[in-house]
Amino acid sequence: MNSFLDINLGHKKYPIYIRKGLIDELGTEIRKIYGGSKIAVITDENLNCLYGGRLFPALKAAGFEASSIVLPPGEKSKSFDTLLGIYDSLIDSGINRSHLIVVFGGGVAGDIGGFAASTYLRGIPYVQVPTSLLAQIDSSIGGKVAVDLKQGKNLVGSFYHPKAVFIDPELLKTLDKRFLYDGLAEAIKYGCIRDKKLFLALSDYNTIEELNESMEYMIHSCCTIKKELVEKDEKDTGARMLLNFGHTIGHAIEKYFNYEKYTHGEAVAIGMHMMTRFSEDLGMTRAGTAEAIRNILCKYNLPHCIDIDDTSKIFEGIKLDKKNVGDHINIVVLKEIGDAEVIKTSTDFIKEKFDFAAITRN
Ligand SMILES: NC(=O)c1ccc[n+]([C@@H]2O[C@H](COP(=O)([O-])OP(=O)(O)OC[C@H]3O[C@@H](n4cnc5c(N)ncnc54)[C@H](O)[C@@H]3O)[C@@H](O)[C@H]2O)c1
Repeated sequence: MNSFLDINLGHKKYPIYIRKGLIDELGTEIRKIYGGSKIAVITDENLNCLYGGRLFPALKAAGFEASSIVLPPGEKSKSFDTLLGIYDSLIDSGINRSHLIVVFGGGVAGDIGGFAASTYLRGIPYVQVPTSLLAQIDSSIGGKVAVDLKQGKNLVGSFYHPKAVFIDPELLKTLDKRFLYDGLAEAIKYGCIRDKKLFLALSDYNTIEELNESMEYMIHSCCTIKKELVEKDEKDTGARMLLNFGHTIGHAIEKYFNYEKYTHGEAVAIGMHMMTRFSEDLGMTRAGTAEAIRNILCKYNLPHCIDIDDTSKIFEGIKLDKKNVGDHINIVVLKEIGDAEVIKTSTDFIKEKFDFAAITRN
């Protein structure tokens, strides 16, 4: 299977290629869209160790002179300190606006590498080569790039789209299982909000091998939904908000546990299940939907509830969500699997109607 999608924003258009083994053809593929000589690769230590021996020869074979900027793995690298180091390395390597940045990694390298590209010399071209499932189906598409501040995640960033996105599903074979499941939470989210067939397919796989065989279909389905929503609403003020299903509660949970206990996908998993239980109780969602979500989360080792004593803290986190406007909050509610809507409501309504103690129950 050789999939291709085009993101068309009107003012900018770029391709997404999805193909097994693409890493070995990256030099040739990049040559088709970039006529220059120098490339700066931004990656992390794990990926450099696993794939540097294939990536750099592929670039060299196509005539590129590639330098590398290798970050320590993990969220801590998405900081201003790291960013300053990236700028230093770009200057040391003589990278200018006629050159290209290749971001090779998960969402962390993608976000900080993309942000470096958007700001260095007021913006230089870059391509995304996402390597984690989360990055392949979500963070590499849509142009959101950012770094964290000590006050919170993604607080400084921009919308800056790559020249192209190259997705090689085979790279996922070396991804730690916890990160695979983490990304699957986002895939389940896409099924919930827009694609019942994808949700059912994910429910039906019996083994990780079966899932792996269908990985390209799954990535393609998720990217198609993200493409459609980003094209409708590039700056995240309307339809794109559907992608936040499970995220309002999820962010509050991540924050409550200081980003240490749950990965982003795990927190979103709990958020999707809890939000659907609330909306089902309020008669907004078809009966049985929360149970279907709970079953699929269990199947992929994802949590669906948390164990805390003071559930009011979760409400506090929801109140402080950076996407709230005044007392208003946009929540994403499923009518049923595959059909979601954004509802504008108030934090008071959430406080009154949502049974936060239920977050700790099975
Ligand atoms: N920009 C967006 O739209 C957007 C959307 C969602 C999430 N994000 C951001 O994405 C980040 C999380 O991304 P992530 O989960 O990919 O984290 P990550 O980049 O830290 O990758 C997770 C781990 O997996 C390793 N890894 C990645 N690919 C691998 C592979 N093929 N084989 C072996 N190991 C591999 C990495 O080295 C790292 O240790 C967060 O900072 C989040 O804010 C951004």
